[in-house]
Amino acid sequence: MQIPTVDLTSGQALPLVGLGTFDMLGMPCAQAVSHAIRVGYRLLDTASRYANERSVGIGIEESGIDRADMIVQTKLGGGDHGFDEAINAAKDSARRLGVSYIDVYLIHWPCPSLGRMVDSWNALLTLADEGFIRTPGVSNFKVHHLQALYDATGRWPAINQIQCSPALARCEVREFMEANGIHAQAWHPTGRKEAMLGDAEIIRLARKYGKSPTQIALRWAVQQGIGVVPKSSHKGRQRENIDLFDFTFDADDMAALESLDRGEQAARDSDVEEEF
Ligand SMILES: NC(=O)c1ccc[n+]([C@@H]2O[C@H](COP(=O)([O-])OP(=O)(O)OC[C@H]3O[C@@H](n4cnc5c(N)ncnc54)[C@H](OP(=O)(O)O)[C@@H]3O)[C@@H](O)[C@H]2O)c1
Repeated sequence: MQIPTVDLTSGQALPLVGLGTFDMLGMPCAQAVSHAIRVGYRLLDTASRYANERSVGIGIEESGIDRADMIVQTKLGGGDHGFDEAINAAKDSARRLGVSYIDVYLIHWPCPSLGRMVDSWNALLTLADEGFIRTPGVSNFKVHHLQALYDATGRWPAINQIQCSPALARCEVREFMEANGIHAQAWHPTGRKEAMLGDAEIIRLARKYGKSPTQIALRWAVQQGIGVVPKSSHKGRQRENIDLFDFTFDADDMAALESLDRGEQAARDSDVEEEF
């Protein structure tokens, strides 16, 4: 299955759907990754914090697909903030993944109490200028964190991976990102933890289009150009999660989905929460 792409300001074409890998470990992770690639996934989302970069690398190798055709996306852990630390962490991630360059490298969390996000951002820009990473980006950044990076360096991240689903539409940060050419990619895009999938509007739309509630949540994102990285270890669900491009919501459907937004205060607050 061919997954549509969006063009990033870095020049890279990024698939709108990738495979999330949080909580996948060891050989089951490698097998799930390899299967996903064989059914059409070309973007893989991991992080040093997930402790599975080696398994993701094995999955790529075992899929038989050329690494050059894959987009490998991983993240800088909170404990590795800082210029030298970030340079070393990116090299360590690449070594674990078994790749000679990283396609998309994200600062996982801003961790404002450390006061090092600009140092880390400078490291990512240096690595990008050297060609070691293709797209420098961030995750869980709010408007003022993004602005701080730009003010210090004159360069916006090409992508910000944020918690986002119909239940957490994140309108303010998405508007700011759109105005500055920053691609929005959604983590936890199924909205499962928000107990949104049993909502009457989601069920009505699932019946209307002959799709699952998960596909309704994912379609809401990709129809607006928001990328998604749903995680599934299950072969059938991996296929289901990329089967999103043969139906289109009309304006009334989108309005119904907009009504599910619980507002910014319901999302994880990266000024308060820090992950290391
Ligand atoms: N940047 C960050 O701070 C951050 C934070 C969290 C996550 N992430 C990334 O985003 C990815 C996705 O987020 P997530 O894993 O929290 O949530 P998610 O992808 O929205 O949901 C994953 C859960 O939904 C199930 N699932 C997936 N597709 C399904 C389907 N079609 N039908 C029924 N169940 C389905 C999976 O179970 P099965 O595996 O059994 O199918 C799994 O339990 C992560 O894996 C990770 O790569 C990033």
